[in-house]
Amino acid sequence: MSELKLMLVAGARPNFMKIASIANAVSAFNRSPSKTKLRQIIVHTGQHYDEMMSHTFFRDLGIPKPDIDLGVGSGSHAQQTAEIMKRFEPVLMRILPDVVLVVGDVNSTIACSLVAAKANYPPGSSPRVRPLIAHVEAGLRSFDRSMPEEINRILTDALADLHFLTEKDAARNLIREGISKNKLHWVGNTMVDTLLRHRSQASKSTILSQLGLVKPSGEMGASNKRRSGSKADCPQERCLDYALLTLHRPGNVDNRKSFQEILEALLVIAPRIPILFPTHPRTMARIREFGMERHFRFGSIVVHGDKATPQIHCMPPLGYLDFVCLMSNARLILTDSGGIQEESTVLGIPCVTLRENTERPVTLSEGSNVIGGTTKGSIVRHALLQLKAKRSNKLPRYWDGKAGNRIVKLLVRECGKIRP
Ligand code: UD1
Repeated sequence: MSELKLMLVAGARPNFMKIASIANAVSAFNRSPSKTKLRQIIVHTGQHYDEMMSHTFFRDLGIPKPDIDLGVGSGSHAQQTAEIMKRFEPVLMRILPDVVLVVGDVNSTIACSLVAAKANYPPGSSPRVRPLIAHVEAGLRSFDRSMPEEINRILTDALADLHFLTEKDAARNLIREGISKNKLHWVGNTMVDTLLRHRSQASKSTILSQLGLVKPSGEMGASNKRRSGSKADCPQERCLDYALLTLHRPGNVDNRKSFQEILEALLVIAPRIPILFPTHPRTMARIREFGMERHFRFGSIVVHGDKATPQIHCMPPLGYLDFVCLMSNARLILTDSGGIQEESTVLGIPCVTLRENTERPVTLSEGSNVIGGTTKGSIVRHALLQLKAKRSNKLPRYWDGKAGNRIVKLLVRECGKIRP
């Protein structure tokens, strides 16, 4: 019986859904009759640290408690990346894992990859000189280097030994950057694994009634009539119509002019459909800094007849199950997040991406997403069109809930072959 030490790195909110799928696949693999067993070590960098940005996800998703918490916290990009590297290196050199698995495109992803790539294990301490670096969600490109995430993606992929891909275009991007085809593995989407696994549990969330969005019995929302028999299966049959918004990209909210432009679009959309807005801490800080509070409603949602007040309703960040429930029942999703574009595709909910590009083109070609841009006219036009859109039922290849299992099997196979 041989043992492989697999270190899973997570740091920020969108990482937790991805490592949940891997941790789950590791448990399943260890129950199988394989002669290899995996020892999993979860490292939380602490890039996100608030209860609602971090800990609640471990509970909701049943992820084992992190073995190591680096407790890094916020800072400028350089400070945060450097601090993660400083704290990760001694942990790596103590545990000497066979594989460091990183996910997505956040600062924790590049910081830990860089440490792993330059590690030099003491002679005789391990069959390897350094760990293999596995990148989950490799090859996605927005071709916009003003996004910190794009820099993180390119650099992490340049360092990785194994690239796990969610969509076909990712392979083209990596080959163009000179990455060998042998390192690429099209496995599907770990975030989708987690969504499919928790969808039915999310349907039991009481968030809609907590927000006062459930109609008295007898009436049924237009969206739910339209949706009956479709993929969105949260059984909140009588919820009011609403759009769900997330917005936190530095390019959208850190600059007053850009934020104001998006806000003006939202103020045109809100009278047609109330907007629910779980607000990221970065965005809440900017709303205050720019004195924009008067445009948002804080506190409980007021319902007149069968309509919520036509406003943008700010609320604190939500836990995973509550958020999935809100996505599943939304008539429209407005977002600048990457993962939510993918989740809306799986749920079939029309989505408008509040950016000029996407690194996830499959959500446009095979999903329910459109690029809405960042100017008022373009956002409003796309939102109104998407409000009339038919639901999409297509799912990209391998978005079937089994990506984590494929990754774990490949890790075991490739670990035997590649010895850096
Ligand atoms: C990070 C990721 C982004 C991802 C997003 C999801 C990078 C470069 N960006 O952006 O790709 O989409 O996470 O949320 O890694 N803060 C808190 N509590 C927390 C975490 C952050 O209050 O638990 C505040 C801090 O004031 C911090 C700010 O939010 O300065 C931004 O956090 P940071 O980790 O720097 O980046 P995000 O914008 O969250």
